[in-house]
Amino acid sequence: MSSMMHPLHCGFGALLLAGCARAALEIVPGATWTAVNTGEHIQAHGFGIIEEDGTYYMIGEEKTDGSLFQAVNCYSSSNLVEWTFEGQLLTRTEEEGDLGPNRIVERPKVIKNDQTGTYVMWLHIDDPDYADARTGVATGDTVCGEYEYHESFRPLDRQSRDIGLFKDDDGSGYLLTEDREYGTRIMKLTDDYLGVDSETFGWEYFAESPALVKRGDTYFLFGSQLTGWAPNDNIYTSATSLSGPWSEWTEFAPVGSVTYRSQVNYVLPLGTDNAIYMGDRWQETNLAASTYIWLPLNFNGAAVTLDWYDSWSVDLDAGTWGSGLPVSQLEGEAAELNGDATVVDCSRCSGEQAAGYIGGDEGANGSAIFSVDVENAGPVTLVVKYANGDTAQRFAAVSVNGEAQTVAFLSTAHLDEAGSSVVHVSLEAGANVVEISGVNNGWGPDVDLLVVPEI
Ligand code: DGJ
Repeated sequence: MSSMMHPLHCGFGALLLAGCARAALEIVPGATWTAVNTGEHIQAHGFGIIEEDGTYYMIGEEKTDGSLFQAVNCYSSSNLVEWTFEGQLLTRTEEEGDLGPNRIVERPKVIKNDQTGTYVMWLHIDDPDYADARTGVATGDTVCGEYEYHESFRPLDRQSRDIGLFKDDDGSGYLLTEDREYGTRIMKLTDDYLGVDSETFGWEYFAESPALVKRGDTYFLFGSQLTGWAPNDNIYTSATSLSGPWSEWTEFAPVGSVTYRSQVNYVLPLGTDNAIYMGDRWQETNLAASTYIWLPLNFNGAAVTLDWYDSWSVDLDAGTWGSGLPVSQLEGEAAELNGDATVVDCSRCSGEQAAGYIGGDEGANGSAIFSVDVENAGPVTLVVKYANGDTAQRFAAVSVNGEAQTVAFLSTAHLDEAGSSVVHVSLEAGANVVEISGVNNGWGPDVDLLVVPEI
């Protein structure tokens, strides 16, 4: 199957078109992803994605206060790059119960039942010791509106922790579930998707965070091994029938890369032949600072592999993807520094220096100004490499030719490398002025590099 489109391989005719495929917004795995309308990192961990009329809804866990249940959040996007916070679909109740205080509510997944017109959400429901091991079900009339929580139970009386959902071409729904007394199972849902009908297949093998995608006539089931929040080499198996036979579980990312430090949570179909691996890069000591590792999968018959890209782009209309654009790197310490901003030491930064004292109170007003030259005008994804030693996010205004947006910068306290934060902007052909300054009298991050795609 052909999978890859090279954005740089624009034909001569295409080059004459504005931007060609060169000036695409990009997905930067592992970066801080600031939601368009909140100015904060996306809180949708362990998510699932459901698409409706060209809009993608990312539904996942709020983890701002750690591992215990806070809310199930919904974000929307038409390009998989810019995400708008739409609201909370389920929130913690004051009274005791499945969604009450001190509960574990993980891996929300939504599929639409075409017979009833209802959106059905399945969740992992547990106590803080993970001893309940139940599934929960909620329903909504709209994909990203209010959901009514129904009940929790053990599917077919089996323990169930990490879950996934899958809707087959014939409309049948399936629960993917990890049972610590046995292994991992596929269970067929009832016609209304509100319960479980029967077991379709079971492995005496533990695959957590199961995610299933069908490409052509082949089903691919992805999962992780059992290492808590720590990443491991994730595995997959394939079959032409959900009831098997399934192939041996096998790694798909380079062994030892621990799946590029991530755990699969969803696999999104792309076009007819492709699919996107979507994983969580958990930060166990600061779960809110967990990031998302999205990468294109390579399918070769029933074999699947996953390569790393610092950045890459997706063409949703064509159902294809392309490797990232070549970039120029501008050092923070070489930028024009204003106010109290000054060069600081930064052991994990390029050149071991950064632009520090960005922002600060009104008297400080530190900022770094970069002159950015590109050949063509167009939309691009800038990456700011930075350090933020706080536990909480920091914020900065990134303005391009005077147009500012608020960008979040997750903690890098747990990292031995600089962090990355993305900002999607429009550049003009020729000279552009990019200024990184403070927001609300707070300190911004120490700016290591501004990474600019060459368009
Ligand atoms: C691994 C699971 O995949 C996560 O969702 C979470 O439950 C952690 N275990 C908790 O250790």
